[in-house]
Amino acid sequence: MVWPNEDYLKLPGSYLFSTVARKQREFSAAHPEAKIIRLSIGDVTQPLAPVIIDALHKAVDEMASAETFKGYAPDLGYEFLRNVISEKDYKARGCDIAPDEIFVSDGAKGDCGNIQEIFAKDCKVAVCDPVYPVYVDTNVMAGRTGTYDEKTGTWSDVIYMPCTAANGFAPELPREVPDLIYLCFPNNPTGATITKDQLQVWVDYANKEGAVIIYDAAYEAYISEENVPHSIYECEGARECAIEIHSFSKNAGFTGVRLGYTVIPKDLKAGNVQLHSLWARRHGTKYNGAPYIIQKAGEAVYTSEGQAQLKEQVAYYMKNAATIREGLAAAGYTVSGGVNAPYIWLQTPNNMTSWEFFDYLLEKANVVGTPGSGFGPSGEHYFRLTAFGSYENTVEAIERIRRM
Ligand SMILES: Cc1ncc(COP(=O)(O)O)c(C=O)c1O
Repeated sequence: MVWPNEDYLKLPGSYLFSTVARKQREFSAAHPEAKIIRLSIGDVTQPLAPVIIDALHKAVDEMASAETFKGYAPDLGYEFLRNVISEKDYKARGCDIAPDEIFVSDGAKGDCGNIQEIFAKDCKVAVCDPVYPVYVDTNVMAGRTGTYDEKTGTWSDVIYMPCTAANGFAPELPREVPDLIYLCFPNNPTGATITKDQLQVWVDYANKEGAVIIYDAAYEAYISEENVPHSIYECEGARECAIEIHSFSKNAGFTGVRLGYTVIPKDLKAGNVQLHSLWARRHGTKYNGAPYIIQKAGEAVYTSEGQAQLKEQVAYYMKNAATIREGLAAAGYTVSGGVNAPYIWLQTPNNMTSWEFFDYLLEKANVVGTPGSGFGPSGEHYFRLTAFGSYENTVEAIERIRRM
């Protein structure tokens, strides 16, 4: 008799975005004439930049001839990509990260979810609240989170670090010492960032307590302010305590193309064990490498032409972000984010719950956003709008919200 993995059965309800999609579907069915604008899921809408399309075409052509055909990719990723990542994302910023400390993957979500596998089952996990749900749910699946309290929406064995208006949506050092600390800046969902000095406090704390920080830098390309770090390795001592995860989804529009990477410095140890070697072992066993064609597209991201084209794409989304932020502020909403991130975090009016505001916005403005409570209890009474729509739709959505 076979039994399911009981840890999976602990996961509550349906995934946030399936509920959002279902509610939208039901509304559309009841109001077929409504022109719904989706500013909910963090998916890009602009086409791939020309330099990336060129690189893809060339790489496809290489596959057509025996001399240039490529089969399995190296476990860690092709050197041409790891070298350029090490140069442009790290050395150019004064960070000491070698190509062989970079593991190329098919995106950040898988890495964010899988990285916990190399840690002991009784490791105590700390997350920001609100948080990108993947960090918590994958630790639930691994049996690391204890029991779920439906009333509070929290797990007994997870340390929650509230990120609220009172602390500028930046977590404070937890009272209980964690083993694994998930941080994500610029943040999804709040759009908040922390300064290099603030991040240094976390690095010092992790080194003092023997904890590991898993730093999700998926939105690094959206940073516009000077004192916001692009990488945790800009902080002294981070090589001894931090893993960093990157995505090509938001900086280069690869959400459907799929590419990312994870950095594990060789100095990072758990006990006497180099975590780099554990992740290399895992990668070699469970993963057969991101496709050559896609890694060639990733390489094109770092060319000067690629950088110029992608800067324009990010600027396009950030113009949307400013439209949302300024439009809502002018309409009397309390808003944050949208300066170093493509997310705007707004307080719901009249103390509405996040889901009440979701329904209200869908009904009155035919605009879909994401309820803050879906990201954790401290997200209640907040709402996330994304800058990833088209400019025209964004302008119209804000007009409609202002008229509500
Ligand atoms: C914080 C964060 N990390 C990781 C991801 C996933 O990125 P990828 O598309 O590379 O899997 C997302 C996607 O929305 C995200 O918001």
